[in-house]
Amino acid sequence: MNAFPDAAAKIYDDNIVRLVPGYALALELMAAILAVQLSGPCRILVPGCGTGAEILAIANSLPEASFVAVEPSAGMLDLARQRIAAAGLSERVEFVSGYLDDVGERGRFDAATVSLVLHFLPDDGAKQAFLSGVAQRLAANAPLLLLDAPSVAFDESALRQWLLTQHGPGVPPPDAVIKRMQTLWHRATPERIAELLARTGFAEQATFFQTLGYVGTSARMRLRSVD
Ligand SMILES: C[S@@+](CC[C@H](N)C(=O)[O-])C[C@H]1O[C@@H](n2cnc3c(N)ncnc32)[C@H](O)[C@@H]1O
Repeated sequence: MNAFPDAAAKIYDDNIVRLVPGYALALELMAAILAVQLSGPCRILVPGCGTGAEILAIANSLPEASFVAVEPSAGMLDLARQRIAAAGLSERVEFVSGYLDDVGERGRFDAATVSLVLHFLPDDGAKQAFLSGVAQRLAANAPLLLLDAPSVAFDESALRQWLLTQHGPGVPPPDAVIKRMQTLWHRATPERIAELLARTGFAEQATFFQTLGYVGTSARMRLRSVD
């Protein structure tokens, strides 16, 4: 089900800033949007929390927020626990080792962030089932912040290669990173992502971030998922 290998955690934080131009800004904008839309005690669902980046970015802007962090890779989840403990946030974060189905009955959430997860799921029903799983766990009107890697209308390999090389020798090397993108990612068109969001009950879709190969979309839970 697309969980990262445990060893990926060791290199993830260094690699992600090479791979997503403006990644820190995307997280900062997520924090700003949620700070404007939510207030007081609130609960935020973070499926695919990885090493905890979204939580670390959002927690200070919403001091009364608590989080349920869901992650199938034990290595990534371990590092998230360590980073969140080091930031003094452990009491505000519940960790779920596994997938959305493992969240169990925890009531409706006031918001969700899905950062860099959806493009790992094939568009064979898995993307829709994942978004539907998020939708079913959200309160009416709750915001969803999605950072995704949709398909692009040109071959970006050379540009990627150049950018990755500028950041010094990376592990894995740029060629391997690009090969992984070409073989393991399931990039849908922006129109298809919009359609999937609408089908699973998300309205008011708006772009809050865009960079080479990545788009940040905000939306609100309007309807109960019908799928
Ligand atoms: C690229 S990382 C993103 C981590 C973090 N959200 C971020 O923005 O840095 C993708 C994460 O999603 C996890 N993942 C993959 N498939 C998943 C699924 N179906 N449900 C939840 N998490 C999943 C992977 O194990 C990995 O840790």
